[in-house]
Amino acid sequence: MSTYKKIESALIHGGIYGDEFTKAVNVPIYQTSTYEQSGIGETPRWEYSRTGNPTRAALEALIAELEGGRRGFAFGSGMAAITAVLSLFHTGDRILISSNVYGGTFRVLDKVFNHFGIGYSIEDTTDIKGLEEKITDDVKAILLESPANPLLTVTDIGAVSRIAANHGILSIVDNTFMTPYLQRPLELGADIVIHSATKYLGGHSDVVAGLVAVKDEELADRLAFIQNSTGGVLGPFDSFLLIRGIKTLGVRLDRHVENAEKAAKFLSEHKAVKKVYYPGLPEAQGYEINKKQAKNGGAMISFELYENYDIKKFFKSLKLVALAESLGGVESLVCHPASMTHASIPYEVRQKVGITDGLIRLSIGIESIDDILSDISQAIAESEE
Ligand SMILES: Cc1ncc(COP(=O)(O)O)c(C=O)c1O
Repeated sequence: MSTYKKIESALIHGGIYGDEFTKAVNVPIYQTSTYEQSGIGETPRWEYSRTGNPTRAALEALIAELEGGRRGFAFGSGMAAITAVLSLFHTGDRILISSNVYGGTFRVLDKVFNHFGIGYSIEDTTDIKGLEEKITDDVKAILLESPANPLLTVTDIGAVSRIAANHGILSIVDNTFMTPYLQRPLELGADIVIHSATKYLGGHSDVVAGLVAVKDEELADRLAFIQNSTGGVLGPFDSFLLIRGIKTLGVRLDRHVENAEKAAKFLSEHKAVKKVYYPGLPEAQGYEINKKQAKNGGAMISFELYENYDIKKFFKSLKLVALAESLGGVESLVCHPASMTHASIPYEVRQKVGITDGLIRLSIGIESIDDILSDISQAIAESEE
């Protein structure tokens, strides 16, 4: 934290706070595409809003500060942020990705960057020794999520960052599920942190956005060049919405996690539940590593029901928890990764990495936990065959 000792304060006052012209405590929405210049060749601070905009700049400074980075970048979606980061690579380069990542990350590599000769391989990033053996000359980065979407698999971010640094390649962490309130990958040694800010950072399911933060100035200059050249920037109004959402991130997440811990315990003790994936449960894969690198287990839970429960009926019977793509908003959402968020991953690959057709993913919101659990309970009862 550059200015504030505690993240709770930086969430509210961090980055560029308020407005230097009016002293408004909130950063105004500078809804402008361009800026009047005083003369030819007098390099203006603001010239064109793809290159820079004061509202976006405040958000970019904020994410850099929250992640313990030097510079931040705001994009029109998490995928635009990932695309900008992947644009750092060249034909012939290969990227190792963790075995469960968001389906869109897989798709952009498989269907877009592949066309430019940038390859990828799916690896078990939890096996550090095995992962290091996969680093051949063409490998230029390791991209991971921890906990990963949708199986909440935990990877040791510090250990992966160290092997990446030893081989002179980049470590990239998608920190969407944790946010800087719960986990700060740059401080653990990663080079680049990415967010789908659509999720917890925005927090209200009303904005689609992506953020990137880095420590290294040279890397930041390359990303700034890509951001301006490819142009997937976040608009001023959405930048304002994100700044506003981030102010309450701490209080929201405290409640999200309190609810999720109760929900994970409830599910793990339920007779209908075959398996629960939640890094906050002591029996979970990577529990100790997650405890070391993150504040807690977050608020995403995946689970599977026994075969005598019909998951279609389960989804249909839910009344409070909405069946929807996305996560991290104040409202509880549920999704079926195999047919929704991870449908772009071929069936065989999904089976190999453990994304079964019976997997259910929950984003626990901040409603009353009693209401959330009684809704899940009645839907499970309805789905019994
Ligand atoms: C972990 C993760 N990364 C990236 C994305 C893509 O973000 P967006 O939907 O904002 O483009 C998502 C979307 O669900 C995600 O869950």
